[in-house]
Amino acid sequence: MIASDAAQLLLKLSGYDVNLYGWQRRFIDDDSRFRIMLKPRGVGATFTVALEALTRAFTKPASTTILISYSLRQSLEIFRHVKQFLDRLSASSFQHRGKTYNLAYSSGERAAVLANGSRIVSLPNNPDALRGYRADAVYVDEAALFRDDFKVRTAVMFTTVARQGRIALVSTPKGRRGWFYRAWTGEEGWSKHLVSYTQAPHITQADITQLRSVMTDLEWRQEMECEFLDEVNAFIPYEKILSCVEDYQPSKPSEESRVYLGVDFGRFRDSTVVVGLARERDGRLRLCYLAELKQRPFREQLEVVAKAAETLNPVAVAVDSTGMGAPLAETLSETVRNIMPVSISSAVKQTLVNNLRNIITSERIVIPADATALINQLRHFQQITADGATRYEAPTGMHDDYVMALALACYAAAADHTAQPSAVNFWSWPSPPSLRP
Ligand SMILES: Nc1ncnc2c1ncn2[C@@H]1O[C@H](COP(=O)(O)OP(=O)(O)OP(=O)(O)O)[C@@H](O)[C@H]1O
Ligand SMILES: [Mg+2]
Repeated sequence: MIASDAAQLLLKLSGYDVNLYGWQRRFIDDDSRFRIMLKPRGVGATFTVALEALTRAFTKPASTTILISYSLRQSLEIFRHVKQFLDRLSASSFQHRGKTYNLAYSSGERAAVLANGSRIVSLPNNPDALRGYRADAVYVDEAALFRDDFKVRTAVMFTTVARQGRIALVSTPKGRRGWFYRAWTGEEGWSKHLVSYTQAPHITQADITQLRSVMTDLEWRQEMECEFLDEVNAFIPYEKILSCVEDYQPSKPSEESRVYLGVDFGRFRDSTVVVGLARERDGRLRLCYLAELKQRPFREQLEVVAKAAETLNPVAVAVDSTGMGAPLAETLSETVRNIMPVSISSAVKQTLVNNLRNIITSERIVIPADATALINQLRHFQQITADGATRYEAPTGMHDDYVMALALACYAAAADHTAQPSAVNFWSWPSPPSLRP
């Protein structure tokens, strides 16, 4: 039986009323050892990977399949897809051409063993975690989002080499860098699959219209048109940003941690971003809170900031008080202690973002791998010099609200003289502009 028919049969047996699309069948039936899929958001790629992995595991006894994701949360998410299929199929068996297939399985949080001895394991982005595995197939989901991806590449290659294992990379693009970009554009030997959102009719015209209205032009080109965008005039090198990324879930820090909040009030799309940083024992700032409040009334946004302040008990809350931010900062100060209003003139912005860049390039900050919107904005944030003046901003068609909220939180941290001797450096730059309004 061809693989996509077996996959379709599994879908049917598990009670899904889903007919595989042509591109899904082509991908599943492609027997190449190295496959790569470039795809827009939401078309059904993770679904395809989970289904194919399961189909191959059922049809090849005693095989090992590894799914790798860019974060722990994402690896649990992809395994949830696998588990959903298995749960629906479990304890049943079926006949095909005289053979009986048994669909019983046992599973933990991130691994399943089928009755035929095949294993499916879902791992986060950690090259060390791959050591010791010998895999018949490895799937790397959202491969362009990986940090240390050349280390992952080496680890994946070693994992598959003994068994002539197959490798599949699947991703939406994220810049002209890394293993995924190289494999798609330069490396020999990859069988390529380009998917368009027009080939996934579950994304309706109404969805497209709505998505188009909330995405900026650059986001649309990257996420839906699959363009590998350059970080033109990047202010902070992407590799430096990735050096600060770790795989963890932001959580409330211990009582004795000194916490700083940064609040950027969005002007263009009614959205506000709040970032919380907790100082660790070694002086690094760990992102412990991140919220984007889209299209909510200002009253509600202020309530969220107040709630975050109540929970995290910050020693300083740096609030963008430019323009209409001024009355909002004032209102906040009625309920929240330690408000630090910052009026962001272009000179102040320069100081804020330079401080942010210093902290990132010296790896004094830790950002969670799942904070993809923040990482994306940091990657695109640019420095432009024209007519003797320098501007710091998002490229046309993108926003910098995450960047500025982070920069404000870093400013609050740098201004905390009690906790941080290096705050002196912050103030000792040539002609530091005043950060007070
Ligand atoms: N052939 C199909 N017919 C209808 N719906 C499908 C089909 N294939 C997948 N889907 C649905 O598409 C939705 C998105 O699937 P999935 O999360 O796998 O997409 P993705 O491309 O990985 O998205 P993201 O970019 O967010 O990671 C799911 O609800 C899934 O059930
Ligand atoms: Mg996915």
